[in-house]
Amino acid sequence: MAAPQSRRTFLHRLGAAVSLTELGSRLAAAPNEEFYWITIRGQFAFEEARVPMNAANLCPSPRAVAERVTGLTRDIDLDCSFQNRAKFAGMLEASRAKVAAQLGVSADEIALVRNTSEANNTINNGLPLKAGDEVIVWDQNHPTNNVAWDVRAARYHLVIKRVATPQHSSGADELIGVFERAFTPRTRALAITHVSNVSGLRLPVRELCELARRRGIFVHVDGAQTWGALQLDLRAMGCDSYSASAHKWYCGPKEAGLLYVRQDRIPEIWPNTVAPGWGNDADPDVKGARKFESLGQRDDACLAAVGATADFHQLIGPARLEARVLELATRLKEALAELGGKLVSPREPALSAGVCVLAVPPARRQELFDRLYREHGIAGATNGGLRLCPHIYNTPDHLDRAVRGVKTLRHLLA
Ligand SMILES: Cc1ncc(COP(=O)(O)O)c(C=O)c1O
Repeated sequence: MAAPQSRRTFLHRLGAAVSLTELGSRLAAAPNEEFYWITIRGQFAFEEARVPMNAANLCPSPRAVAERVTGLTRDIDLDCSFQNRAKFAGMLEASRAKVAAQLGVSADEIALVRNTSEANNTINNGLPLKAGDEVIVWDQNHPTNNVAWDVRAARYHLVIKRVATPQHSSGADELIGVFERAFTPRTRALAITHVSNVSGLRLPVRELCELARRRGIFVHVDGAQTWGALQLDLRAMGCDSYSASAHKWYCGPKEAGLLYVRQDRIPEIWPNTVAPGWGNDADPDVKGARKFESLGQRDDACLAAVGATADFHQLIGPARLEARVLELATRLKEALAELGGKLVSPREPALSAGVCVLAVPPARRQELFDRLYREHGIAGATNGGLRLCPHIYNTPDHLDRAVRGVKTLRHLLA
């Protein structure tokens, strides 16, 4: 790795905005892995003094995506006529088609909504359920897939059963068993999370979907921590619906998200927001899951830029991207464990993804998180402990800085 000064100059040179085609040529010509990932790092505008390591919450976008949003927003401001904006319908469809292809499903099953929260609420408000029906939720679900079910239960007299998984699980079989024992003949839905944002635990979702579907139970998977981090095939996963945010691991525009609903389940889901286009299956423009993104006036530039984000991911390739995310997370967890820190997140590959949480007493989390940012320039989070989520824009040097920072502040871990 180059010395800090020359690294800065190097990054500056690599950091100029380039088209995705030019970026593709540079990546293809990269002489080694280090150069490859430094070239990717150069496509993100953040400065070395303030390093993002909180992909579970929000990611920066690569320059090509950020410029697509800015350029198209300017275009609308210059001419917001229906005539000028007509082109956005095609761009939205291009974004949808690219996202669907990456997820192994059809474009008609994808709605581009605003975020995971909205997508989760569309499912928990829209699934037809009646008094006495049971819904099983994981206690590590985000509030939008957890408290949101309680709110619905209070209105419609549903029974919500919260399942807790062991803090240090022995493996997939144990996790499957915990959910399986909660099923009863009255269970109608299972609402889970692919990877927890508070522990980093990855559930065996394919097996859980299979188990539930054999009993006719609807399965919703919150994928906020997996879209853009892991290679996904939703058809193979077997879920009925899946939600995610583009502004997290996908590094897409802010306030864009996705809701996938399997083709045969789309007709039965009620709207959360009723706007023009809802339920109008006769109109070819709102066919399939498009009815879930009918939310009034949308940010057309943002939705168009989801397509540029998909192109950026495709340049790297989902398999290579996943391997890098897992490699960074593994290195970080190993280094933190070597310091004597207690990990909340599992280290077994099958139960892991990109979310790394280090145990920190609640009373000390804020100080550790603040000082890591102020004194070491590493921006993490306090969810579940000290949460650090390195992504493709992070370098090994960033990991070393994070670990050095935690080492200096080690007295706050106990
Ligand atoms: C698992 C999970 N679901 C849902 C959300 C909500 O995401 P958003 O705020 O983008 O809707 C988050 C946010 O961190 C999350 O981690």
